[in-house]
Formats: sequence, structure tokens, C-alpha cells
Amino acid sequence: MRNKIVAGNWKMNLSFEQALQLANDLNEYVAHHPSTAQVVIAPTSIYLQAIQETVDNDYITVAAQDVAAAEKGAYTGDVSAEQLDSIGINCAIVGHSERRAYQHESDAIIAQKLEQLFAKEITPIFCIGEKLEEREADKHFEVVKSQVLNALQPQKVENLTKVVIAYEPVWAIGTGKTASPEQAQEIHAYIRSVLKDAFGEDLANGTSILYGGSVNAGNAEELFAQPDIDGGLVGGASLKVEDFSKIIAAIK
Ligand code: 13P
Repeated sequence: MRNKIVAGNWKMNLSFEQALQLANDLNEYVAHHPSTAQVVIAPTSIYLQAIQETVDNDYITVAAQDVAAAEKGAYTGDVSAEQLDSIGINCAIVGHSERRAYQHESDAIIAQKLEQLFAKEITPIFCIGEKLEEREADKHFEVVKSQVLNALQPQKVENLTKVVIAYEPVWAIGTGKTASPEQAQEIHAYIRSVLKDAFGEDLANGTSILYGGSVNAGNAEELFAQPDIDGGLVGGASLKVEDFSKIIAAIK
């Protein structure tokens, strides 16, 4: 059985005080409204330790937004998997389209980052998704297929069961334009078929595939009701407890 997951990617938002407040409010909500979903929040790296200490880890998983591709050494500004592990972080987003776009991260770099995470038993939330021009040119299937295979084929087979995939079409991120439930279901089912062809049916059926891109309190329920959508990776709407709690409640 694959897990249902609702993850909030806080990106580069919130002061320290605001972040602590949000983490506390969310902890309070989840403690009183048990959910079948695993709830994950990903604050900026300098808040990770404080937020990890603020929330009850039985209720909320605290994730990093990224990880270094290298193990250690002269990589100014980077945070390694070992460093995340040393403060008790066991989940990290990797391959987000904003990092692919602004930090020019290739599939090969993302594959290295996945390897670093596996070495420390940190669960990756591995992001894929096509750009608007790729969708308009009807290339979205081939784009997500190559993103999945380029990053996952180099991995040791036994590590693949640990991967959570987040399909986030770039044209839907922060734009208020969501993929329709039918569009999202279609490509989620396709991603699962790619996993099945490359790695077998058990892996395909056991992998959680989250949808991300303008998920909000109004559209979450219909998206999450699709058979191949196992939850969401939420940006803007994860920054307010009123909205994020409704999205968590939308998981049935
Ligand atoms: P929005 O929910 O703000 O569109 O962001 C989605 C996202 O990029 C989550 O990682």
C-alpha cells in the first residue's frame, strides 16, 4: 500500500518567527485532526533544526528543500545529506523545477543528489514536470519519462522503494492554473506505467506520486480523489494554516 502524503514547500518565505508560528499552529491542527496522510513541511534550511524541535515528529515530518550533490567539502552554501541526517532530518525535496531552472540542475545532478539522500536513508520527494511549451508541443509524456528514468535508473534497485515522486507541471506552479483532475490523473497513470516498465509492477504500485501546482483548499479534494494521485506538494497554500489544514483534510 502506498502512503498518502500532503507536503508543504515553504520555499524562500516566512521570517523565523512566522515559520515557528505556522509550525506550531499546524502541529496543533494535526494533533487534533488525525489524518490518514503523512504531513510534511519543508522550511528553509536554516530553520530546519528549530522547526524539527517545535513539532511532534509523530504528526509532522520536517523536510529539507534540497540537498548537495556532493558528500562533503568545499561547496560553499550547500547542505549535505550527512548534515541533514545529523540534525534528524529524514526527508528532502530534490529536483524542484525552480532549482532546475535557476540553478540549472540537470537530471545527472539530481541523480547524484538522490544517491546522497539514499546513503543517509533520507526519503526523497523527487520532483518532475514539463514546461508550458513542452505541454503545448505535446511532449509532456516524453519529458516526464526521461526525467524519471535519467534520475532513477542510475540508483541501486533496493533504494527505489524509498522514492516519493511529485509531478509538478511548471506551468501550474504559482500561476493559479491547476492541471485538471483528468489531466493530472492521465499523467500520473503514465508515470506509474513508466515505473512499471522500467522497474516492475510492485514498485509502480508501491510508489506514492504527489501532484503539485496551484493546489488549494478548493481543488484539493477532486485532485486527491484520482486513483493515481496519492497527495500533494503544495507551495503558496501551505503558508497559511487555514488553507493547508483544509488541503490535509481533503485526503480521504
Ligand atoms: P504552488 O502551490 O504555489 O503552485 O507551488 C507548487 C510547488 O512548487 C510546490 O513545490
